[in-house]
Amino acid sequence: MSEQEKIYPVTAEFAANAWINNEKYQELYAQSVENPEAFWAEQGKRITWFKEYTKVKNTSFDPHNVSIKWYEDGELNAAYNCLDRHLETRGDQTAIIWEGDNPESSKNITYRELYEDVCQFANGLKKLGVHKGDVVTIYMPMIPEAAVAMLACARIGAVHSVVFGGFSPDAIAGRIINSDSKIVITSDEGRRGGKQVPLKENVDEALTNPHVKTVEKVVVVKCTGGDIHWHDHRDLWWHDVVAGCAKECPAEPMNAEDPLFILYTSGSTGAPKGLKHTTGGYMVYASLTHQYIFDYKEGDVYWCTADVGWITGHSYILYGPLANGATTLMFEGVPSYPTHGRMGDICDKHQVNILYTAPTAVRSLMAQGDDVMSSSTRQSLRLLGSVGEPINPEAWEWYHRVIGNGECPIVDTWWQTETGGIMIAPLPGATDLKPGSATRPFFGVQPALFDSEGKELQGATDGNLVLQDSWPSQARSIWGDHERFVQTYFSTYKGVYFTGDGCRRDEDGYYWITGRVDDVINVSGHRMGTAEIESALVAHKAVAEAAVVGYPHDIKGQGIYIYVTLAEGLEASDELRIELVKWVRKEIGPIATPDVIQWAPGLPKTRSGKIMRRILRKIAANECDGLGDTSTLADPGVVDDLIEHRANR
Ligand code: WT7
Repeated sequence: MSEQEKIYPVTAEFAANAWINNEKYQELYAQSVENPEAFWAEQGKRITWFKEYTKVKNTSFDPHNVSIKWYEDGELNAAYNCLDRHLETRGDQTAIIWEGDNPESSKNITYRELYEDVCQFANGLKKLGVHKGDVVTIYMPMIPEAAVAMLACARIGAVHSVVFGGFSPDAIAGRIINSDSKIVITSDEGRRGGKQVPLKENVDEALTNPHVKTVEKVVVVKCTGGDIHWHDHRDLWWHDVVAGCAKECPAEPMNAEDPLFILYTSGSTGAPKGLKHTTGGYMVYASLTHQYIFDYKEGDVYWCTADVGWITGHSYILYGPLANGATTLMFEGVPSYPTHGRMGDICDKHQVNILYTAPTAVRSLMAQGDDVMSSSTRQSLRLLGSVGEPINPEAWEWYHRVIGNGECPIVDTWWQTETGGIMIAPLPGATDLKPGSATRPFFGVQPALFDSEGKELQGATDGNLVLQDSWPSQARSIWGDHERFVQTYFSTYKGVYFTGDGCRRDEDGYYWITGRVDDVINVSGHRMGTAEIESALVAHKAVAEAAVVGYPHDIKGQGIYIYVTLAEGLEASDELRIELVKWVRKEIGPIATPDVIQWAPGLPKTRSGKIMRRILRKIAANECDGLGDTSTLADPGVVDDLIEHRANR
C-alpha cells in the first residue's frame, strides 16, 4: 500500500467525545449548503451582539457586482467578544500564556488582566487622537503587547494592519502608504533565537521614505532595552502612553461590515494587496472553526505557533481562541532555540493539549532525527494541526508518530489570508484521515474543481480549486482597490471565487491541495509573489533582467530560485551573488532570502517576448528531460545554456 492510501480512522476517544461526529458533520454540512441563511443565522448566536442582526447573507460573486455582506445590520465589538463577555465566568482564567524566546521567561495573563491592559491602551490610543476607522500599523515581536495593541484597536474601532516583523523597511513603508496609517506601534527590538531584531530601526528607516506622509506618532514598547534612535516630535514610549489611563474603556459598537483589520499578502502580480476583513462574519467564523476543527474544550491549553503578522495568528492565536474563552499560548521564539527540542519542552512546560504548526517546522525537526523530541514527553497533547502549505505524507507520519506519540489526530487545514478562516480540514471526531489530504470542506464551504477553460470537473480529478459561494469570514475587498479584488478572484471563472490553488479530489471526495497554479510561491509557509522579487532584483543596477521561480526544497517546501541576466559588460562573481542576496533581503525582508542564483546570459522567451516560466521551473527542479514543447521559443539555444549551468542537481 502506498503511503498516500493509508487511512487513519477517527479514534475511539474523538468519536465518543468530540463536538462533531460524522453523522453530525453530514447533517450540518447539508444544512449549511442547502440553507446557508438559516444555518448562519443560528451560528451567529455564538457571538455577543450589541444589536441583533435581522439579515444574514447578502453576497454576490457576479463579476459586475462583487459584493459580500454578512449580518449586515448587526452591531458588535470584536474585543468585547474576546474579553468583556468572559469576565464574569473566567476573569481569573489564563487568556494568554506567553513563552519568551529565553526559556526562562514566561508569564500568564488572565482574562481580567488582558481586559485591563487592552482598555488602558485603547484609552492611550484615543489620547493620541486615534478614531474609529483610522488605520494603525503594528510591527511587533511576539510579545503580549502585540495582542493588546490589536485588541485595543478593535475596541475603539480603529483598523489594525499588522506587518510581520520579518519584513524590510521598504515593505513597511509600502504598507503604511497604501493604508494611510496614522500611528505605528513597534518595539525597540524583538528577540528571536537568542538574537535581537532591530524593529524600531526598521520603522525609522521606513519613515524616511518621502511618500510616507500620514504617520503622526510611533509608539514603542521597551522590550529588550537595546539602544535606539529617538525622535522627540514623533516617538512615544508605550509605558508613557498608558500612564494615567483608565483601565475601563467602552467598546465601540461596530457595524458587522465595519473593517476589523487589513492584512497584506502577495499575489502573482503587482505590490502586495491589503485584504480587508470585517467584523461580524469574521468573528462568527473564526470562533466556530476554532471550536470544531480543533475540537476545543473548556480548559484546553491551545498553542498555534504562527506569528500574529500572518492571518493564522489573527484568526487562530487571537480572535478565534479568545472569542471562545480559550487559553492561547503565544511564543516569542523559534522551534530551534535553544535546542530543537524546544517545541516539545514548551508542550510539557505548559501542558499543551492542542498544537497547531506548519509543515516546514515539522520537516526541520524531522531532519534532526527521532531523538529530537527526547527531552519532552508531550503526554498532554491530544490533537495536532498543520497549516500553510501542503504537508507531505512522510512529514505527516513523523508528526503523528514522534511529536504526537502516535496518539493524536492531525487536522491539515487549508485556507488563505483571503478566506479569513479554515476552509477545508478534517473534523477530528468525524473525518478519517489520509496523510497529505486536507480532506473535506467545513460547513458552508463549497469547493469545486475547474479546468483551464472554465468547465467544472466532476468526480475524482485534478483541477483548479474554486469556492462556489461566500462564507462569513471572506475578505470583502482589497483596501483601496475593489477593482483589483474583482479581477484577482472573480474574473478567471465567472460566478465563483478562484483560490489560485491546484487540487486533486479522490474517490472519497477528499481534497488534496497540490500548490499554487499562479506565480505565487510558498517558502516555509510564507507566501511570496515571484513578480515582487523580480522587481526588487531589476531595481539593482547590475541586473538587466531577472526571473524567479520556486523549486522543491526539503525543508522549506519551496525554495527561491533566481535567474539573473547581468547588465551589459558586467562579469558574474561570487561577490555580486552575495550582494544580490543581501539586496533582496533588504528590499523585501529576510523571509525572501534567495536560495539559488543562476547567471543567465539569456532567458527563454516566446517570440512575443514572454518569459517561459514553465521551462525555468523545470530546470530549477532539475527535471530537464521533461521540458515539453519548446518550439515557440525565440532562441532555443538559451535553454541549453541554462540546463548546462543549472544549480540544483
Ligand atoms: C496559501 C495561502 C492560511 C494559512 C496560512 C497561509 C497554501 C495553506 C495549506 C494546506 C496545502 C496550503 C495554499 C494557499 N496553503 N494551507 N493545509 N495545504 N496548501 O496563508 O499566506 O494566505 O497562503 O497557502 O497555497 O493558497 P497565505
